[in-house]
Amino acid sequence: MIGGGVIGLSVAWRAAQRGLRVTVLERGELGGATSYVAAGMLAPVAEADPCEQPLLTLGIVSARSYPAFVHELAEASGRDPGYLRCGTLLAARDDDEAEALTRELAMRHGLGLTAHRLRASEARRLEPALAPALRLALELPEDHAVDPRRLTAALADGARGAGAVLRAGTEVAEVMVAGGRARGARLRAGDQIEADQVVIAAGPWSATLGGIPPEARVPLRPVKGQVLRMHDPAGPGLLSSVLRMGPAYIVPRGDGRYVLGATMEERGFDTSVTGGAVFELLRDAVELLPGLSELVIDELSAGLRPAAPDNAPVIGQSVTPGLIWATGHYRNGVLLAPVTAEIVASALAGECAPIGDKELEAFAPARFAPARLAPSTVEIGA
Ligand code: FAD
Ligand code: GLY
Repeated sequence: MIGGGVIGLSVAWRAAQRGLRVTVLERGELGGATSYVAAGMLAPVAEADPCEQPLLTLGIVSARSYPAFVHELAEASGRDPGYLRCGTLLAARDDDEAEALTRELAMRHGLGLTAHRLRASEARRLEPALAPALRLALELPEDHAVDPRRLTAALADGARGAGAVLRAGTEVAEVMVAGGRARGARLRAGDQIEADQVVIAAGPWSATLGGIPPEARVPLRPVKGQVLRMHDPAGPGLLSSVLRMGPAYIVPRGDGRYVLGATMEERGFDTSVTGGAVFELLRDAVELLPGLSELVIDELSAGLRPAAPDNAPVIGQSVTPGLIWATGHYRNGVLLAPVTAEIVASALAGECAPIGDKELEAFAPARFAPARLAPSTVEIGA
């Protein structure tokens, strides 16, 4: 396994549980890159896009599996993975936003998803700290949250407990391929790790690994997101649901801590935190939740969402036997970790996937194989 983020660790846990010999190679700290920055919303309904039906289905399957996933993980690891059944509110501040929310409600009902329209007074009964600026809200009772830092710590212990070897501070330089199939990984330090199967779960850095045959490569780009972590010295109670306003959101942890995010920026591998981003995130959030201005800022950070050209995940066997992709989860890697782990671990063990082949087609790495991407040639007769 190359990469020890939420995806690599989830796959490692599920694969080790199946009795496979698993080694995770992580160049930094386990769970220390994008997964460390993520807010942890489990939000297939809030992020629903009618043009991305396969992704919506995958997200719903994963969200529904979360309660059992975290229950089993807590038992296996002895740690609390930080799952919070908090629900989500989408908020509108003016007539234009209210009109947009009304369209969003119709779209979700059209997709058969659960969403309720709340007048401002009804939303304030649920969340009394919301400002009079609130015009309309949608309640999404099935979108919850998890603390990604607790989750990855639990996954690491769960994977170790199931027999996986986790090697932090171990950078892979290249995938080893011989005789047309993956054979292991060569480390930056020079030594080689041999393996029958290699899973690439290195987030947006997956595309920069050496040794991958051109026909098995997947183009990925990093999409930067800046977030603030804050706590309320008065304790919990300011906000109990996830609150989303346009692209921004506030995620409660249930104990007086909050995550405010996030920007969407295409700036390569830059993870600097900027004054402008922090200012805009706070300005928009305080307008809806004035009490936020009393919170203490604990941390400012930026992470890099791994994104394929079509922004859909890349999960499954590549055209090179033994080489498997598990990345490209973009805005939903925490949400999609349980289902990705099941799909990849069952492929590694030679079992049937928990999702049908047809449903998985949209995520197949082979969709980026050069033959598929080449413009079709047309022969013009004389
Ligand atoms: P990572 O966590 O980045 O793990 C990849 C690992 O690979 C890293 O630890 C890295 O060090 C390692 N690696 C890289 N190169 C090598 C190498 N050569 N050798 C060894 N190891 C290597 N998703 C949600 O579902 N809900 C959210 O609310 C949410 N909020 C987000 C908020 C922000 C601001 C951001 C940036 C993302 C958010 N996401 C969210 C998306 C989510 O964080 C990602 O989709 C997810 O973390 C990707 O997990 P990963 O394991 O693929 O990547
Ligand atoms: N899913 C929230 C984000 O990526 O910012």
